[in-house]
Amino acid sequence: MFSFSKIELIFFASASGRLGVNEENQFYHKKYYFYGFFLVNAYMNKIIEKEYLSDKVVRMVIESPRIANKRKAGHFVIVKVGEKGERIPLTISTADTSKGTITLIIQTVGVTSYKLARLEIGDEITDIVGPLGHPTHITKVGTVLCAGGGVGIAPLLPIVESMKQMGNRVITVLAARSKDLIILEKQIRAYSDEVVIMTDDGSYGIKGLVTNGMEEIINREKIDLAVTIGPAVMMKFTSLLTKKYNIPTMASLNSIMVDGTGMCGACRVSVGGETKFVCVDGPEFNAHEIDFDELLMRLSAYKDSEVIASKNYLENKSN
Ligand code: FAD
Ligand code: FES
Ligand code: MG
Repeated sequence: MFSFSKIELIFFASASGRLGVNEENQFYHKKYYFYGFFLVNAYMNKIIEKEYLSDKVVRMVIESPRIANKRKAGHFVIVKVGEKGERIPLTISTADTSKGTITLIIQTVGVTSYKLARLEIGDEITDIVGPLGHPTHITKVGTVLCAGGGVGIAPLLPIVESMKQMGNRVITVLAARSKDLIILEKQIRAYSDEVVIMTDDGSYGIKGLVTNGMEEIINREKIDLAVTIGPAVMMKFTSLLTKKYNIPTMASLNSIMVDGTGMCGACRVSVGGETKFVCVDGPEFNAHEIDFDELLMRLSAYKDSEVIASKNYLENKSN
């Protein structure tokens, strides 16, 4: 479940700690503490395929057989580029167990995603840890309305695929600022009964917001479940819309993460008045119970440093 570039770490936990490994070999938040680890085995995290889906979005297929074997829709990994690099979470878009590969879709927004996108076929990613988080709860409910905004379309794809394979009718709304940011349309269409595309500037599909597209569908179809993934502000407003129509809604959250194992608290969110950790309790939650304003505030906590770091990095790509 933990795959590193040169080594694999296996942790042992005492009965009184806070983190463990469940029967599916995924880390979960419980009362256990680590008291030791072994170093074993070698996985290289080699990039096998690389393709630009748009100027800012890269798709990479990576050799990672252990993660590919365990991965289910909704799982993510924590990736580190360079020995001293920061850790960032990325959804496992798809996996191929026969080839032992996972696919990541990366939107370049700052230093670490720039560094990752610069790697080429044959390069190795320093560390990949996963699969992390709970897989999506996939059931046959009837008609599922899926909404993906910007790079939220990447984590939405495996959910659309699984919902369809479970026998649901799937209607998907893809939304972005402009045409070049609508990604994976072909793949999403393959698993959707209907796809509606919304762009802010009208350069593709219908001009308007994701909520406009969703409301038009809600007014003509009985929707049994909605799924929303995208920028926090988009999830906030899609969730307010579905609440108005009493449609159960699931949101996959994109909080800041560091360790991804429930230890650091970086990904803390409030759901239904309770504190939850997105990495171990999520990433999906009942959207109507999420405190999106708190999430938005926490997401912007390091904005100034991130902007300076990105500017410095782009001016001097030496690290
Ligand atoms: P920075 O300039 O450092 O940050 C840009 C913005 O990204 C920040 O303002 C903040 O909102 C967010 N961010 C920064 N650091 C982190 C961090 N350590 N963890 C989370 N968010 C951070 N992006 C994709 O492109 N594809 C995906 O499939 C994808 N899946 C995700 C799944 C989960 C569960 C989560 C929580 C996030 C996912 N993201 C995904 C978002 C991705 O992690 C951030 O875009 C990335 O961390 C940005 O880092 P940066 O250094 O490139 O940019
Ligand atoms: Fe550290 Fe979730 S990322 S607790
Ligand atoms: Mg960063």
